[in-house]
Amino acid sequence: MSKIRPFVKWAGGKRQIIDKLIKYAPKKFNKYYEPFVGGGAFLFELEPKYAVINDYNIELINVYNCIKDKNKYKKVLKILDDYEIKNSKEFYYEIRNMDRDKSLYNKLSDIEKCARTIYLNKACFNGLYRVNSKNEFNVPFNQKEKVNTYDKDNVELISLYLRNNDITILNGDFEDAVKSAKANDFIYFDPPYDSDTDTFTSYTNNGFNRDDQIRLSEVFKKLDKKGCYVMLSNHNTKLINELYRDYNIHVIMAKRNINSNGKGRGTIEEVIITNY
Ligand SMILES: C[S@@+](CC[C@H](N)C(=O)[O-])C[C@H]1O[C@@H](n2cnc3c(N)ncnc32)[C@H](O)[C@@H]1O
Repeated sequence: MSKIRPFVKWAGGKRQIIDKLIKYAPKKFNKYYEPFVGGGAFLFELEPKYAVINDYNIELINVYNCIKDKNKYKKVLKILDDYEIKNSKEFYYEIRNMDRDKSLYNKLSDIEKCARTIYLNKACFNGLYRVNSKNEFNVPFNQKEKVNTYDKDNVELISLYLRNNDITILNGDFEDAVKSAKANDFIYFDPPYDSDTDTFTSYTNNGFNRDDQIRLSEVFKKLDKKGCYVMLSNHNTKLINELYRDYNIHVIMAKRNINSNGKGRGTIEEVIITNY
């Protein structure tokens, strides 16, 4: 069977280290939880039959919900075909700036919003997702003449996967997303990266700060006590080593080519932490 792949390019995408994630994942588990799903690289690699996926990003979760829906996703692809033909710098900014007028934006259907998010993801600079303080998407155009917004076979497989299995899609905070986890369930946390230098990481309009990393480590400990398999990836920072010192910390090298300031290309140390 051909493997499914992420359909959006997402900062921190895990395709690069997928072999290592497989290596450290438990061989058997009940339900799979991915509370920071992003592009879903590991979800699509595992293709679990029972899963709960979550992300704080409302536009991203709308994309998952639309792709899951048999009728909606076909309508989304039709819009994308049209956008591919119209693609240009002017067109990009026209679509991007739809969120500048909130009352107009709120009138868009979830299908239109989904097509917009996918198109912007593919036609913007480096596949970044970044919004300003007014929650307006503000990544510039990638300056390419052609845009390829989707791979038909892949989207079809993703839609079938999401529909034909027991996949719950949530849009909230990671802590709420794992409340139903039980012993022998597997939770993989891939939070916004911690940094030894930055104090703030902005994926959504709500930054994920040091307090959130601490709160996450407490949730990790609770799930550990419940008898869940818990795995977490992050940068190899002082804080992360402190917070998870009672667990197994595997240091790995990862190639990174997405960074909000474009400087973060090259190899970087990451950690995969497990409680088993
Ligand atoms: C590192 S990315 C995940 C990358 C993903 N695993 C992949 O392979 O593409 C982190 C994600 O966490 C989400 N996020 C930020 N704060 C959150 C929160 N408090 N609860 C849940 N998700 C959050 C962001 O929207 C972002 O998609």
